[in-house]
Amino acid sequence: MKIGNIGHSLLRRSWALLVAGLFANARGASVIEPIQPLQPVSGLDPEIVALGEKLFHDPRLSGDNTVSCAHCHKLALGGSDNMPVSVGIRGQLGKINALTVYNLNTHISYFWDGRAATLESLVSFPLQNPLEMGGNWPEVIARLKKDESLASAFGKAFPAEGISRHGISRALADFMRSLVALDSPMDRWLKGDKSALGKQQLRGYRLFKNYGCIACHQGQAVGGNIYASMGVMGDYFNDRKTPLNKVDKGRFNVTGREDDMHVFKVPSLRLAVWTAPYFHDASAKTLEEAIVVMGRYQLGRDIPSRDVQDIKAFLHALAGQHPLLEVAE
Ligand code: HEC
Ligand code: HEC
Repeated sequence: MKIGNIGHSLLRRSWALLVAGLFANARGASVIEPIQPLQPVSGLDPEIVALGEKLFHDPRLSGDNTVSCAHCHKLALGGSDNMPVSVGIRGQLGKINALTVYNLNTHISYFWDGRAATLESLVSFPLQNPLEMGGNWPEVIARLKKDESLASAFGKAFPAEGISRHGISRALADFMRSLVALDSPMDRWLKGDKSALGKQQLRGYRLFKNYGCIACHQGQAVGGNIYASMGVMGDYFNDRKTPLNKVDKGRFNVTGREDDMHVFKVPSLRLAVWTAPYFHDASAKTLEEAIVVMGRYQLGRDIPSRDVQDIKAFLHALAGQHPLLEVAE
């Protein structure tokens, strides 16, 4: 579902209240929950997924054989790197906070600014980015072709083409499609296990809806399905006091439209407990900080610390499990 960009219209002042009202159910009388359980993807070919998993950990995809996708997307630790900006080839620093590679199937697009339409087309960006993997396709393909066991696996999976840009992208994309962290407390609760959420988590969920967080963070991934402006109710970038960078322009860099200035894909909160620091600029070190900033700049509210703690407890309930993810507490 695409509602368009939130935050650039007459609704600016009243929309949050409006949406909060929409979802604030009177004592749980049968309502459609704005968050749905994550669904596993069906129909993936296990051989291609396994090939994708191998490639994801393969530094030969980089210019000097040192940096794999997993270098920045640590699967055991939530799928990102817990750094303000990532460290790429030859120790270079990137320009933006890394995103997780879990739970991507319901996203409208990929990257903070949505510049990749599909997971397949995304692969070229990190692979060729001189600050990230600094690779190029012809070299990477030639190198991989020398690996006989890999060539034979590709031959089976993609008989027509063997090792190719298309096959590599497809295998990585399908592997990422398989990275769905299922069976979170929230999903068990949504499926009817009313003991799955504790009292504080339930209070947190109610607050999440009543404050209006749910207007932007919703659906299976609790985010990822719309774009929104950072600073709907206040000038976040002015108040931040650090110089404005190109990446701060968000979707404007993709579309060139004034309306898209400072607009980002709303991040999924499913694994937010794993992926500190927060925001595209990593300006919030903790979840508490991120919740307070969201209250102030997206909703025009000062959220008291008790409510912040309840919302944080709710965010913990969103994290599911996957064999490659270490077990959460
Ligand atoms: C040097 C660190 C680094 C490496 C290596 C790297 N990434 Fe990333 N990844 C990032 C950063 C930083 C972002 C956020 C960039 C942005 O949004 O502009 C990101 C974003 C992504 C996203 C978008 C997630 C979303 O919610 O939209 C996916 C998917 C992804 N990377 C997959 C990969 C794959 C596949 C590889 C290997 C081919 C890879 N990455 C290699 C740092 C890295
Ligand atoms: C108007 C839409 C909107 C509303 C309302 C909103 N958010 Fe966000 N949220 C965003 C956007 C956009 C970002 C990314 C901002 C950035 O990186 O600059 C974000 C980022 C976050 C992050 C950081 C995620 C990460 O991986 O870095 C958290 C946590 C978060 N929001 C929680 C909340 C909570 C809690 C509320 C309610 C108090 C809320 N949000 C309300 C749009 C919204």
